[in-house]
Amino acid sequence: MKAQMEELQARALVRIRQAQDEAQLQDARVAFLGKKGELTAVLRGMKDLSAAERPVIGALANEVRAVLEAAIDEQRTVLKEAKLAARLASERIDITLPGRRPLTGHIHPLTKINRRIKDIFMKMGYTVAEGPEMESDFYNFQCLNFPPDHPARDMQDSFYITDSILLRTHTSPVQARTMQAHEPNTPLRIIAPGKVFRWDYDATHSPVFHQVEGLVLDKGITFGDLKGTIEHFCREIFGSDTQVRFRASYFPFTEPSAEVDILFRKRHTKGSTVRTTESWLEILGCGMVHPNVLQLNGYDPAEISGFAFGMGVERIAMLVYGIDDLRLFFENDLRFLAQF
Ligand code: DAH
Repeated sequence: MKAQMEELQARALVRIRQAQDEAQLQDARVAFLGKKGELTAVLRGMKDLSAAERPVIGALANEVRAVLEAAIDEQRTVLKEAKLAARLASERIDITLPGRRPLTGHIHPLTKINRRIKDIFMKMGYTVAEGPEMESDFYNFQCLNFPPDHPARDMQDSFYITDSILLRTHTSPVQARTMQAHEPNTPLRIIAPGKVFRWDYDATHSPVFHQVEGLVLDKGITFGDLKGTIEHFCREIFGSDTQVRFRASYFPFTEPSAEVDILFRKRHTKGSTVRTTESWLEILGCGMVHPNVLQLNGYDPAEISGFAFGMGVERIAMLVYGIDDLRLFFENDLRFLAQF
């Protein structure tokens, strides 16, 4: 009987120590210590023992029960600790990870360039004027000395809304609107930034783009004033060593008219060799305000003279930032925009 108990204890201990969770532990307890368990069965058999053996085996059985219960408690502690350790390992927080930066927006490159252009002219005493994006044929063309059917209208592929209303093709109508809004012959020094629209789409043209118009009117304004102003502007925006060239051109609203180019140096890198090429790039149109335009808008060409200019903001941004496709400004790809 004693040997049988020892064997039972050994088997029970193995089973208890192999239990992987609370359920298996309970199963082991039931198998040995439960009502129908093995140890209970042994105790039941004690009635067949002699009076001398009974207390000895009874004491042994209690000892075995105590050993097994202690082993069950111990195994429960082992399982609990293992579970806690696994949880701590799986829920570990790595405090060395860098934090997530909140995504902040920033100014669009075209807005930046627009602001720089405005700043440069405002330092020269210009004020900002505005006009509507939907414009009448009258202001967009007629007041600027483009009579109906004038061939120069073909230079600007227009979006017409009705026969007499269109999306403005340039910011020049703001010249006419500003002159008409003032007393005749009032001196003016304005810039007019804004959106313009033309039927065009490729790497250097977009159907919506931005211009900044300029107009200076006063007694005795000369082409020298125009030249000095434009050269100053180019050096401010492109750098003090920028070379500027005036080329004769034609616009119905200026006489004489010119287009302005800057000498643009581009670095090409191929493997380890760096090559620089130079080319003249057109950045704006300008000229002395045509006497007809002064007259059409209530000014007296015998008394007042002036100059005007109009520049493309995208073109200038492309040169400042070295971008060769204008469409990138409008695609709103953050990988592009975040670089400025
Ligand atoms: N409006 C012209 C264009 O969009 C640009 C221009 C040329 C504006 C000469 C002017 C100017 O004010 O004097 O092509």
